[in-house]
Amino acid sequence: MNEIKIAPSVLSADFAAMGSEVERLEKCGADLIHCDVMDGTFVPKITFGCDMIAAIRRHTFLPLDVHLMVINPQNQVRLFAEAGASTITVHREACGEDLKNVLRLIKNCGAHCGVVINPDTSLKEVYDCLDMCDTLLIMSVFPGLGGQRFIEHVLPKVEEARRIFDAQGIEKDIEIDGGITEENVRRIKDAGANVIVTGNTVFRSKDMAATIRNLKTL
Ligand code: DX5
Ligand code: ZN
Repeated sequence: MNEIKIAPSVLSADFAAMGSEVERLEKCGADLIHCDVMDGTFVPKITFGCDMIAAIRRHTFLPLDVHLMVINPQNQVRLFAEAGASTITVHREACGEDLKNVLRLIKNCGAHCGVVINPDTSLKEVYDCLDMCDTLLIMSVFPGLGGQRFIEHVLPKVEEARRIFDAQGIEKDIEIDGGITEENVRRIKDAGANVIVTGNTVFRSKDMAATIRNLKTL
């Protein structure tokens, strides 16, 4: 059974206080820090680049899980790895024919690698690279914004991915991102996801430590 890990997304943090926000997440029991990098082209907004990852790196010992919502991620991967990213995930939709090369590049730079699929991208689109990945990230909202509603119809994809890994006897991380709450987290874990990304649920709660504990144990 894969360990359940809670990966709060700093997309919902106070960007002007990023250092203390990350320290607060670590104190409150987060397992990873999920960093949403947006380039203004793959998704409409721009968040931050590798210098923010280097700055966050100085405030926590937790692994940094960098979700690249960018086109041409191959141009960015080394910079993010050198900045201290522990895992770098890239979108199937952004990589085209280059996907396997980008995943190899991430590994060569010394980070864990993962592929991300949007809610309307089928798991079939990544079958041939799953064995190269440390993580499969399944989006449960369309990328670009925090605080959206969880899209239920991605759950069969989570189940299918877990069946594939179980059949191979592989304990790979299945990460899910978007719209996760204390109400729906149980169903998501039952489907087979073990890395839970949450932005709004954690940052909007009155008691961050209790919310992270609940997301972990519910
Ligand atoms: C969306 C991001 C998510 C987002 C999750 O593009 O990839 O990581 O921050 O936020 P919530 O949990 O608020 O949906
Ligand atoms: Zn994300």
